[in-house]
Parts: sequence; C-alpha cells; structure tokens
Amino acid sequence: MSDATVTRILAQLTAPISFATKARIAKRLFVFALAEQESMLELRAAAALCESPERRALYLRHALDEERHAAMFAAHSAELRRALGKSPWGAPRAASEDLYAKLGEAGFLAFVHAGERKGRTQFTYYARYFERRGETKLRALFSTLVSDEQGHEDYTLRLLTGTEGQGRPAQRKLWRVRAWEAVRMWRRAGQGLAGAVYFAMMSVLYVSLLPLSLWVRLTRPKPRGWLEP
Ligand SMILES: [Fe+2]
Ligand SMILES: [Fe+2]
Repeated sequence: MSDATVTRILAQLTAPISFATKARIAKRLFVFALAEQESMLELRAAAALCESPERRALYLRHALDEERHAAMFAAHSAELRRALGKSPWGAPRAASEDLYAKLGEAGFLAFVHAGERKGRTQFTYYARYFERRGETKLRALFSTLVSDEQGHEDYTLRLLTGTEGQGRPAQRKLWRVRAWEAVRMWRRAGQGLAGAVYFAMMSVLYVSLLPLSLWVRLTRPKPRGWLEP
C-alpha cells in the first residue's frame, strides 16, 4: 500500500472526528497553521545555509507560500472561534528543528517532498469532504492550497533527483527519511505520553497524600501567637 493511500485512508477515518464540531474545526485549522509555520521556518533556515543561489531562491519562495498558508489557516480558525464567542489563538508560533543542518540537503529535500505529498493528499480529501458537507468556505480553503502543495511536491522531487540521481538513489533517500520520521514521531509521541503519565502519577500521589496531610494538621495544630525561644 502506498504512502498516499495510507494518508487518504487516515484522513477519511479521522475527518468525521476532527471536524465534528465548529470548535474542533477551529482547533484542527490552528494545528495546520502551526505546521505550515514550522515548514516556513525550516525553509528559511535551509535558505540561510544553502550554497546554491538558485536553490536558495526556491526555498525562500516556498517559505513565503507556507507563511501565507499559515496565515490563511489561522484566519479561518480565528473566524470560527469568534463565531463561537471565543477569542482566537492569535498568530501561530512554531519552532524550527534545523532539519536542513540535521539531514543534509538531499535528506531535507526528501523530507519536504514526503511532507508535501502527505499535505496535498490530505487537503485534496478535505476539499471533497467539505464540499459534501456544503461548507463552501472550507472547501475553497483546502482546494486553494492543493495546487501550491503540488508545486512544492514537484520541485522538491526535481531537486532531489537532480542531486541524488533518478530512480533508486532518490527512492532510497525517501525510504531513509521515512524511517527517520517514524522514529521522530515515535519519540514525540513518547514525550507527550511521558508528560501525561507524570501528570497522572503526581495527581494520584497528591490525592492519596491528602488524608495524611489533613490528619497531621488536625493532630498537630500549628502553635499560635509568640513562640518561646
Ligand atoms: Fe503549505
Ligand atoms: Fe507546501
């Protein structure tokens, strides 16, 4: 089963849950805004390190697209939040992991290409999903982004095959990056899980120590007034 098929099936399965209510849609759109912002930062960092003026220009143009996408998602999310009587989350603030420096240019291109293909597959499905629901604004939002993501997917593959060679060498780079990303996602999920487990354990500890703390207060009350030296 190809990556695109897995992404489409996951999008089909999760869309009814992720977009069940206006509040959930607003949250999901803001998560997309953060992801687009993160891409923009990675591309700017890549442009700062890249030695080729042509590729630097392509990364900077791509960064501008991702910045625009982040603003579009954040604006739609804010509109939904306001309609619900809630204040918007504001401008997305993501962080860069310096993936260009970590992965090298070919690895970075493979990573971006895979991410763009995933984004384009998801957005294509979401455009159809909102069309079926009669939500024209959201359908238009996702359809507008599909052609941009297709352009990003194409130029990154062109550059990757230009540096690595067509066929198997480029494919090997994509497989390697896929394995690297799976480990990265696993670690990120692990960090989130560790945080949740720590919170749960500390909550249990505090609740179980509460009777002891009350008993100590009752049986050994604090002395009041002046204390003798
Ligand atoms: Fe994007
Ligand atoms: Fe993109």
